[in-house]
Amino acid sequence: MRIPLLIAGAISGAIAMTSVFAQAGSTDDSAQATKRYLPEYTESGDLILPKNFHEWVYVGSPLTPNALNGGKANFPEFHNVYIEPGSYAIYKKTGEFPEGTIFFKELQLVLPGQNPDGSRTEASGRGYFPGKFNGADVTVKDSKRYADTGGWGYYNFNHHEPKAATAKVRPKAECAFCHMASAKKDDVWTQFYPLLDN
Ligand code: HEC
Repeated sequence: MRIPLLIAGAISGAIAMTSVFAQAGSTDDSAQATKRYLPEYTESGDLILPKNFHEWVYVGSPLTPNALNGGKANFPEFHNVYIEPGSYAIYKKTGEFPEGTIFFKELQLVLPGQNPDGSRTEASGRGYFPGKFNGADVTVKDSKRYADTGGWGYYNFNHHEPKAATAKVRPKAECAFCHMASAKKDDVWTQFYPLLDN
């Protein structure tokens, strides 16, 4: 009896894992092959830290070092931006971010500087080199849930490690206003992400 029980447990575990994914609603073969990871919320409505974001589609890394921002940048790290792959597949086809799209902006500190501008010299030259992770910002598209903030929900999962397990939605005056004012497409800064800028 022991072995069948173990197998049954493994199978139900696998089903539970896959149940958080939903098929992309598309007839296109390639889009259909890309499963979507949709946002998950706690019972009280907080966003759960998205899973497996390091395996998502990477779109760019803006960098605003301290030395170019009066010695104290708000975000002195690389801002590594990822989009959830199932949403990306739909975006490529339709040119619109579908409901449930998630962007993950992981902050990554630069390695300690050797020069006054914070740069260092490595085998490839003088510049800024990625070091430790340092928290994350996340946006989620849901036109109904986030109607007050332009159809996107804004979340911060700490500006240090470890990242928070869950996060509360931020008000318009803290995040959305700036995206709504200057981001190129649907409140996303596609002007910095050639992969999405079409
Ligand atoms: C003053 C303007 C401003 C404010 C306020 C702001 N952002 Fe952004 N955000 C940007 C810019 C510019 C980018 C483009 C990439 C970069 O420079 O980091 C960006 C990029 C992002 C991205 C990557 C996806 C995208 O839209 O390009 C996420 C996720 C994000 N911000 C979340 C947040 C969250 C969460 C807050 C509030 C806690 C916030 N932002 C507040 C300017 C802002």
